[in-house]
Amino acid sequence: MVIRSIVAGCGAYLPQRVVTNDELAKHVDTSDAWIVERTGIRQRHIAAEGEKTSDLAIAAAQRALKAAGEKASQLDLIVLATCSPDETFPATAARVQAALGANKAAAFDVGAVCSGFVYALATANNFIRMGQAQSALVIGAETMSRLLDWNDRSTCVLFGDGAGAVVLRAGSGRGTTKDRGILSTHLHSDGRQHDLLFADGGPSSTGTVGKLRMRGPDVFRHAVVNLASVLNEALKANGLKTKDIDWLVPHQANKRILEATAKKLGLPLEKVVMTVERHANTSAASVPLALAEACEDGRIKEGDLVVLEAMGAGFTWAASAVRW
Ligand code: ACO
Repeated sequence: MVIRSIVAGCGAYLPQRVVTNDELAKHVDTSDAWIVERTGIRQRHIAAEGEKTSDLAIAAAQRALKAAGEKASQLDLIVLATCSPDETFPATAARVQAALGANKAAAFDVGAVCSGFVYALATANNFIRMGQAQSALVIGAETMSRLLDWNDRSTCVLFGDGAGAVVLRAGSGRGTTKDRGILSTHLHSDGRQHDLLFADGGPSSTGTVGKLRMRGPDVFRHAVVNLASVLNEALKANGLKTKDIDWLVPHQANKRILEATAKKLGLPLEKVVMTVERHANTSAASVPLALAEACEDGRIKEGDLVVLEAMGAGFTWAASAVRW
């Protein structure tokens, strides 16, 4: 028998305040028409003053635990992906652990920016497969609004805040692609592309948090190539074809990136879960936010083949194939 990580439940949380494109157009030289045409984004949720990444993470985690029927006190592990932590240290995961009362769980953060959730999922999956954890909480949570230069129209219109979480539980099966659980994870990085997307600050360089800087069109070109390639890698590793995919749950950066990636893969758009229109790019939170939505509304069902993908600063990019 083979040990696999089974997704037992999902949860998400979005801050109450919704900011429309028209509202942004009052502060920077942009328009709803430009933002919708270039990105597909119509609105984003923005955290309230004093509302921290851990607050969003805790709310999403509580919903995921409820959906999974799991007690926080039973968790062995919490892995939280973020590039907008509450503090330089300790890890935001430690705040979440304390708030949930997950006292026996090891808790730490993973930093892979927009790919963070898939990296965190891969990390937790390996703990479970090695027998070091029976249950794990994997969270993607961000307050990107705190990292934006609100005078830079080329970036401030693209991002939003939110959190999503999944509970993983050890299960066993014959190890075929029909058995439930995470089938495989595929992670890549290319640090040479640093200057295309980064925050221009940090504890050991400027002593400040910094603001997000991006060469958007260059990121766009890399994103489509890297995402199509890692998706093909995930399919090939499992002997699967595009037609076997029930749902693609991609990182929600830009509708045009999602459409171009689906086209390159030969996947009909109806099989792509899209939330970018309402959430904008929530970095590490975007994949679990989309997952939670598609599980709650009944699109993703037990037995479905779900493929996750993401790409972000670093560069980092990643995919995972999951039999739900
Ligand atoms: N409103 C109006 N005009 C704008 C805005 C705005 N908000 N932002 C830029 N423009 C202008 C530019 O100044 C430029 O004007 P110019 O032609 O007079 O110089 C013009 O619009 C075109 O700008 P481009 O940057 O070439 O526009 P493009 O079509 O490439 O769209 C965008 C820009 C949306 C950033 C796109 O490149 C993109 O989405 N890239 C991917 C970036 C991304 O999603 N990164 C997230 C992290 S990585 C990831 O998640 C994949």
